[in-house]
Amino acid sequence: MTKDDLIQGHSIELLKALHILTRDGKINQDSRRKLKQVTHLFRFIEPMLQDLATHHPDFHVVDMGAGKSYLGFILMDQFLRHQAPLAQVIGIDTRQDLIDRSESLARDMQVKGMQFLNLSAAEALVSDKLPAQVDMVCALHACNTATDDAIRFGLARQAQYMVLVPCCQAEVAASLRQLKSRHKQDPLSELWRHPLHTREFGSQLTNALRCLQLEAHGYQVTVTELVGWEHSMKNELILATRKGSPQRRAALRLQEILDRLGLDGLRERFYVPAQFMQTQHEASQAEVTS
Ligand SMILES: C[S@@+](CC[C@H](N)C(=O)[O-])C[C@H]1O[C@@H](n2cnc3c(N)ncnc32)[C@H](O)[C@@H]1O
Repeated sequence: MTKDDLIQGHSIELLKALHILTRDGKINQDSRRKLKQVTHLFRFIEPMLQDLATHHPDFHVVDMGAGKSYLGFILMDQFLRHQAPLAQVIGIDTRQDLIDRSESLARDMQVKGMQFLNLSAAEALVSDKLPAQVDMVCALHACNTATDDAIRFGLARQAQYMVLVPCCQAEVAASLRQLKSRHKQDPLSELWRHPLHTREFGSQLTNALRCLQLEAHGYQVTVTELVGWEHSMKNELILATRKGSPQRRAALRLQEILDRLGLDGLRERFYVPAQFMQTQHEASQAEVTS
């Protein structure tokens, strides 16, 4: 893709302010990749924004682990300022310097409808600084378990859409590592015997559990690949749309996977709706009879 193709439709002034373009309009390899990712992601998000703009013109998008808020600014520039002027984007990050930078950029560019809060994704769940109604939750490479906290937040606020590009999550791999000797006799444990495989399998398992969790809570889930991450293995895009009917089968499957792998300590993280919570025995009986 040429530079002109890549920047087409974007505000040059904004790309410069975001330091994606240099002052003299050049773009380096890193910025090219970043812009490609965000532009590609925007194509997935646009129909969701259109749906929200039709049904709730004053909708809220929360971007967890927003970093430099590339996504928020590009959503604003490409869609919200023209098609949903009442909508708001709230960027959440634990780094005050990035919050300050985004606030000052929004001020300089006279962008309305953006807010930035110095909170962790977990703190956002209980913070009264966020609106009660949140319609879309995004989390792009939000570090470690911040994606899980973003999911928890989205579930609590019954967000219509969740857009997740998970970062590496170390927790599941660490649990698998601890349980290695317990699974020694199981041939399937070969899937995570070598340290590199422990990390990769842990990451794959984490995302599979996230998808089941979302389905259990009534979301329709699509998993696809985000282009532009050629130099990164973290290119999985999870898109979730709230349909409102919690899925028992997904809840049971999630619990059975945790049971089988002995990952009982992760039940709290990958929680399912209360009506589907099962003891280990109940979960395996349900699987046998389904
Ligand atoms: C890899 S950067 C991604 C930034 C941005 N989403 C992007 O894709 O360009 C991850 C960001 O998440 C923030 N972060 C890390 N842990 C967090 C947490 N628990 N809650 C909120 N933000 C967090 C970091 O400060 C960092 O800015």
